[in-house]
Amino acid sequence: MESLDIVPIQFTDISPRYQQIAEYYEDLLVSGTIAPGEKLPAIRRLAAVLQVNSVTVVKAYDLLAHKQLVIKTRGSGVFAAGRKDADFDRSHFNSDELFRDDEIQLIHGTEIDIPAEAINLATATPSSDLFPVSHFRKALNEVLDRDGAEALGYDESSGYYPLRETVCTLLADSYGIAASAEHLQIISGAQQGIDIAAKALLSPKDWAVLEDPTYPGAAAVFASRGAGTLSVFLNREGIDLVQLEAAVKRHRPKLMYCMSDFQNPTAGSCSASCRTGLLDIARTYGMYIIEDDYVSDLRFSQSRTVPLLKALDRPEDPRVIYIKSFSKLIMPGLRIGFLLSPAPILRKMLQAKHMTDISSSGLLQRAFELYLRSGAWEEHLAYRRKLYESRFRVCLDALSSLESLGFRFTPPEGGVHFWLTLPEGLSARALFRKAAAGGVLCTPGNVFRTGNRDYDDHIRISTAAAGEEDIRRGIHLLAETAASMMHPGSDIHHRSPIL
Ligand SMILES: Cc1ncc(COP(=O)(O)O)c(C=O)c1O
Repeated sequence: MESLDIVPIQFTDISPRYQQIAEYYEDLLVSGTIAPGEKLPAIRRLAAVLQVNSVTVVKAYDLLAHKQLVIKTRGSGVFAAGRKDADFDRSHFNSDELFRDDEIQLIHGTEIDIPAEAINLATATPSSDLFPVSHFRKALNEVLDRDGAEALGYDESSGYYPLRETVCTLLADSYGIAASAEHLQIISGAQQGIDIAAKALLSPKDWAVLEDPTYPGAAAVFASRGAGTLSVFLNREGIDLVQLEAAVKRHRPKLMYCMSDFQNPTAGSCSASCRTGLLDIARTYGMYIIEDDYVSDLRFSQSRTVPLLKALDRPEDPRVIYIKSFSKLIMPGLRIGFLLSPAPILRKMLQAKHMTDISSSGLLQRAFELYLRSGAWEEHLAYRRKLYESRFRVCLDALSSLESLGFRFTPPEGGVHFWLTLPEGLSARALFRKAAAGGVLCTPGNVFRTGNRDYDDHIRISTAAAGEEDIRRGIHLLAETAASMMHPGSDIHHRSPIL
C-alpha cells in the first residue's frame, strides 16, 4: 500500500515538535481524512521532510499509538487504526511502563525491530488472560443493581467507607497490620500513592532517599517535586544501613521509598535486623518511609517469618506509609490500591489525594469491596500464587543455562523477578538489543539506576506475563544470544540442557 503524501508542518514554539506532529496526524485520523488501514509516512521519510530527528517522529507515532489511533507493526510500518487489532497489544512493547524517556530513545534510536511474537520476560504486569473478568462483571452488575446512580457520583475522597473497613479486616487477618478505616485512604494504584506522599511531604530542594537500584516510577515522582535524591545501595540484608544513616544524618531527608519484600528489580527482601535498623533511623531523624508492598503475597519458599515494616511500626511514633496496590496481583486496569498514613501526616495526605483526582472511581471501589467480601480474592490469590510458583521453579531451572555462561544470581524467596549479574565484559544494553531483535525481551539494569552506578552489568527477568513454555524458550534464546556475543565468530552454539 502506498503511503500518504507529506505536507510540511509549520512548527511553533508553544509545544514540543513531536506533540505538534502527533496533533497534526490526530486531526487527520479523527476526521477520517486518513482512512482506517491507511499507512502513515515512514519514519525516516517524514523526519527528512519535516527536518526533525527520527526519534521525534517515533515519539509522535508512539503518542498516537497510545491513544489507539494508529497500529504499529514491526517491520511494516504504522497504520491508521479503525478496529482493535488483536496483534496490536502483543506487538506494542509497553515501553512507557518500563523505560524512562532516555531509555525509550535508547531503544528507538537504534530502531530495534522487535518481532510481534517476542517473548516478554521484561514486564512485571500480568498478562490479560489472568484477569478475573467474570468475577468482576458479576460484582459490577451487582453494584449497579444495588446502588444504581449512587455508585456513579463522586465518592468520599478518602474512599468508599465499607471498602476501607473491609480492607482493615484483611490487613489484620492476612498482613499482621492493625489499622483503622480513618487512617486508610483508597488510591488509584501505588503510583498515585507515591505521588500523594511526595506531594504531601516534599518541597523543592528537600531530600528523599531511594534504594539503588529501584522502581523508576518512584524516582520520577521525587524528581517531579524538585526534590534531590539520595541513592543508597542494597546488600544481602536489604538496604545498607551504614550508608543510609550517613546520608540521612547529613541531608535530613523527609521521605524514603522502599520495597521490603521482593524488591523491584533485585527481588531481594529486607532481613529482620535491617527492618528494625531502618525504622530506628527513621525515628531518630524524623524521616517517613513509603513501604511499597506490590507483591509480598507471592512468597514461595516458606511462610512469612519477618513482618512487614508497617507491622513493626510503633503507634506512638509511626513512620511508615504503607501502600498496597492490586495491579500485579489482580489487574492493573482496576486502578485500586490503598494507603495507610501515620496520624501526624494524615490531613496533608488527604488534601494531596483530593487535589490529585478528588476520589478514586466509586463504581470500581464498590465492585472491589464486593469482590473482596465474596471470597473471590482469596481464591484468585491462591490461583496466582500456585501459577507463579510453578513459573518461578521453571525459571530457576532454566536459568542454569545462563549460569553455565557465567551469569550469577541469588534465588529469591518469591515475587516475579530474577536479577542477574552478567559475565564480565557483557553489556546489558547490548544483550537487551540483540535479544529483543531475536525475539525475547528482558529489562537492562540501567532502567533501574538512581545514582551514579549504571547497572549495565545486570538484567531483570520477570515471569509475570510469560507462561512456562515461553519462559523456557525465552531463557534458552537469551543464553544463545549471550553465548554468540561472548564468543563472536565461533561456531559454538550454546545448548540449553532444558530444550
Ligand atoms: C514496584 C512498583 N510499584 C508501583 C508500581 C505502580 O503500580 P500501580 O499500577 O499500582 O500504580 C509498579 C508498576 O510497575 C511497580 O513495579
